[in-house]
Amino acid sequence: MVDPNVRPESMQRITTPELAKAFIDEQIKAIRAQVGDGKILLALSGGVDSSVCAALISKAVGKQLTCVHVNHGLLRKGEPEEVCRVFGEEFNVNLVYVDAVDRFLDKLAGVSDPETKRKIIGKEFIDVFAEEARKLDGVKFLAQGTIYPDILESKGVKAHHNVGGLPEDLKFELCEPVKLLYKDEVRVVGKELGLPDGMVFRQPFPGPGLGVRCTGAITRDRLNALREADAIVREEIGKLPVTPWQYFCSIPDLQSTGIKYDENGKGSRYMGWACVIRAVNTTDAVRVTVPEIPFAVLCKMRDEIVKIPGINRVLWDISEKPVATIEWE
Ligand code: XMP
Repeated sequence: MVDPNVRPESMQRITTPELAKAFIDEQIKAIRAQVGDGKILLALSGGVDSSVCAALISKAVGKQLTCVHVNHGLLRKGEPEEVCRVFGEEFNVNLVYVDAVDRFLDKLAGVSDPETKRKIIGKEFIDVFAEEARKLDGVKFLAQGTIYPDILESKGVKAHHNVGGLPEDLKFELCEPVKLLYKDEVRVVGKELGLPDGMVFRQPFPGPGLGVRCTGAITRDRLNALREADAIVREEIGKLPVTPWQYFCSIPDLQSTGIKYDENGKGSRYMGWACVIRAVNTTDAVRVTVPEIPFAVLCKMRDEIVKIPGINRVLWDISEKPVATIEWE
């Protein structure tokens, strides 16, 4: 018996547009055969895997697909807007955008333990998605952007958009069209499907989003400062001829002294946040090295980041993994 969760040895690695096109044609047929005229639901995070799934399934069954994009308030600057533009306008899918920002941030208020934060985000995500799923009639299928490393590493449990924990009354048949592909192959397929480069070559981003980079208890002002600083870091490091595997910043829950001068040149000390820039290279996220970033680029980021209200210090994290992890929390 062929195990559908095992990649056949004969399966060719998808490295070219031609191979991607053949894969897409084959999957369109397979999705149509599985789904028939049924309705299919997808949690669309905007990450590469769920975006490729959405594009592929919408090519196969059009408006039978409904995508739900949950904005949990921990997304990066411009992300929800891009998902709505690409899928709502360009791909013209049925897109349900859920503004759950207050709901998540209210639940997270005052919570400083990292694992508790992750659990709250995960549970709240399932609850929001389940509520949306119940509003739709007659959905039979659930699409998931599971990829092959998810199957190999964690028995198919996709940490960042796993909706497998849905309640009993919401048991759907799964449709996982890219589950035998490696990440680089998913990107080739995404490109061939016409997704924008910003989505196809997006760096890894944790499911709990900026929540793990706003360490300790998340406050809206620190989170907003982090979102602005992250946009600056992505913009400036993203211009390098060779971009690191992952680059971002964190704002730890600590304050240090800064100094401001008024128009008369009189200085006053105040407490502000330190923004930590991090850039890493790796092939597997298990061991990471820190690439050189030109000093001029670091200074440019510093000059922009200190303009963000509340931030008065910029640090560059040169820690390798091990000993440090990639994320601060
Ligand atoms: P660490 O910090 O463990 O990160 O060295 C390794 C990779 O995993 C990402 N990461 C997460 N992804 N949920 C996720 O989906 C999480 O809770 C999470 N924590 C870390 C991290 O961004 C890095 O790419």
